[in-house]
Amino acid sequence: MSDGKRASDFVDEDRLWQRQMYLATFGETPKGGVNRQALSAEEIEARKVLMDWSNELGLTAFVDDIGNLFFRREGLDPGLAPVMTGSHIDSQPTGGKFDGSYGVVAAFEAVQAIIDAGIELQRPIEVAVWLNEEGSRFAPGMMGSEAYAGVRKLEEMLPVTDREGVSVEDALPGALAATPAATHREFGYPVSAFIEAHIEQGPILEAEGKVVGVVTGIQGVRRMRVRVTGEEAHAGTTPTAERKDAIQAASKIVTELYARINEDPETKFTIGMMNITPNVPSVIASEVLFSIDIRHVESTYLEELALRVETICGEQDGPCEVEVWRIAESDSVYFDDRMTGAVEAACVALETPYRRMFSAAGHDARQLSYICPTTMIFVPCEKGISHNEAENATPGDLRDGACVLADVLTKLGNDTDTGATGA
Ligand code: GLV
Ligand code: MN
Ligand code: MN
Repeated sequence: MSDGKRASDFVDEDRLWQRQMYLATFGETPKGGVNRQALSAEEIEARKVLMDWSNELGLTAFVDDIGNLFFRREGLDPGLAPVMTGSHIDSQPTGGKFDGSYGVVAAFEAVQAIIDAGIELQRPIEVAVWLNEEGSRFAPGMMGSEAYAGVRKLEEMLPVTDREGVSVEDALPGALAATPAATHREFGYPVSAFIEAHIEQGPILEAEGKVVGVVTGIQGVRRMRVRVTGEEAHAGTTPTAERKDAIQAASKIVTELYARINEDPETKFTIGMMNITPNVPSVIASEVLFSIDIRHVESTYLEELALRVETICGEQDGPCEVEVWRIAESDSVYFDDRMTGAVEAACVALETPYRRMFSAAGHDARQLSYICPTTMIFVPCEKGISHNEAENATPGDLRDGACVLADVLTKLGNDTDTGATGA
């Protein structure tokens, strides 16, 4: 029991910041960002750091078949399902210091604060570190949380390759070997509740002078790929009428897509990747492969947009072939009222300025929300900049988010009668 002590009083801003900055040295880039893609050497080294932190706190480590890590502080009743908190440590290739890693660092800080306060909880508490949230190296992302929640099968993930042809199956053993002391865990091990701390990755909190976003859900997404196939030919000799120019055909499709998908300002439409083959100046391109990422809060409208993409691609009647397919699709999810209520109550008790908000970015919390009551805690990031090496946040805001997290975990750790399944 807590004997009146509050875990948040034991959150240490400096310790949290030092851990955040130390983790950022794994994959640090010259521009001050982080390139720590899933299952890379840098990500594998960072796992060892987490293991060290876990050992310092006397936690027990577990790892599953996709390389998710769990660090457990035992509860008074170890038979109860744990309360889980955490995020991911992989980054975009030109990512920042905070996306994902803040949720892991804040989780360690909150657990340490609970321990330092001498608070014993009925439930175990676990820090979770989900594999490949970003999906920049192995697409689509969210592999760890999707495998855990049973959304996607491990067998579908293992053959996914990066640009160099390295598969998840090839890269995974290196990650699993980095934490030999971790005990094997099955997917789907019961969780009583999940709460993920994360930078907002948007400008709202900063603009409104709020310190915490109580996250009520996550907007839906459709991720697609389009392949335009033409024919390689000589740039100087091939008559215009005989060309099958994949770049020309792709350009027309891209122009149509921007014009016809973006009509509602709430739609977020991105073509972030384009691969050209053979990608040399004097050869007509034989292939353009590009990505589509569409997001919208209204799930039926989002599906309408995905169908519109398929129609636009199908309308192309030039000399090139066009294929379009979906690689991931999720509708908007709405988090559990009791969970958002618990975060709100902690903000009120700590006098932390907050607002309720929907997440425009995707997070592992989506997958956890399919199997247990879930929510998220957002903290501001400078100018809302994220997926960018310039991503920044203040030590004080990170501390305040961890304080709210620590007190919510304390509450959930003693909540033995709601939404809880036995382990
Ligand atoms: C996650 O990084 C996303 O793209 O929303
Ligand atoms: Mn993230
Ligand atoms: Mn991200």
